[in-house]
Amino acid sequence: MPTQGPPGPRPAFADDLAAARREAFALLARGVADRRSPFHTPTLATVGADGGPRARTVVLRGFAAEERCLRLHTDARSAKVAELARESRAELHLYDAARQVQLRLRGRATLHQTDAVADAAWAASRPFSRQIYSAQPAPGLPVPAPPPAPRDPEAGRADFAVVQLRFDRLEWLWLCAAGHRRALFTWEPEAMTWLAP
Ligand SMILES: Cc1cc2nc3c(=O)[nH]c(=O)nc-3n(C[C@H](O)[C@H](O)[C@H](O)COP(=O)(O)O)c2cc1C
Repeated sequence: MPTQGPPGPRPAFADDLAAARREAFALLARGVADRRSPFHTPTLATVGADGGPRARTVVLRGFAAEERCLRLHTDARSAKVAELARESRAELHLYDAARQVQLRLRGRATLHQTDAVADAAWAASRPFSRQIYSAQPAPGLPVPAPPPAPRDPEAGRADFAVVQLRFDRLEWLWLCAAGHRRALFTWEPEAMTWLAP
């Protein structure tokens, strides 16, 4: 494994599980608020119709810490939506190279297209972000040539979807020259433990 630079003062989370969990939650919150955070663009893994894994980059749009619920936006016509409708179990992978931290969140996704959750997310979206949902044809279909960029910020509402991922398992890995740390946090029932890195 790669290691972090010269050893400095050990942060509290190096030897305190609760502090490590707080650190993980703080990084998730920053991933939403700070577009330059590497946690802003995690990898979402789903299960394909053939049972195989599917992974892609998404933008982390929201995090409700109390509910352990992450919010993502996507096109309802995309493969990931069909995959999640069929199998709601999903995993989110986040990696911060500067901090040498990896999170792996596992849970179940719910899809929101016509409800208040989707309405609120659409209302809060900028026109620039809305444009992509008016793209034709549907994402992932073969096209004879690259299509023009979609320009209509309103036409995409019907194909706009919110994915909420409520996680009940969080694995935190922190690489440090003075000693790597790996911890597992679960809920329902709530538990935490160190893991051998
Ligand atoms: C930096 C970056 C951010 C992305 N953000 C999103 C996103 O928030 N939602 C989304 O559906 N796709 C996003 N994509 C595109 C996906 O990675 C993927 O190509 C697309 O959603 C189709 O995936 P699917 O066919 O597995 O559904 C992003 C891609 C990149 C490179």
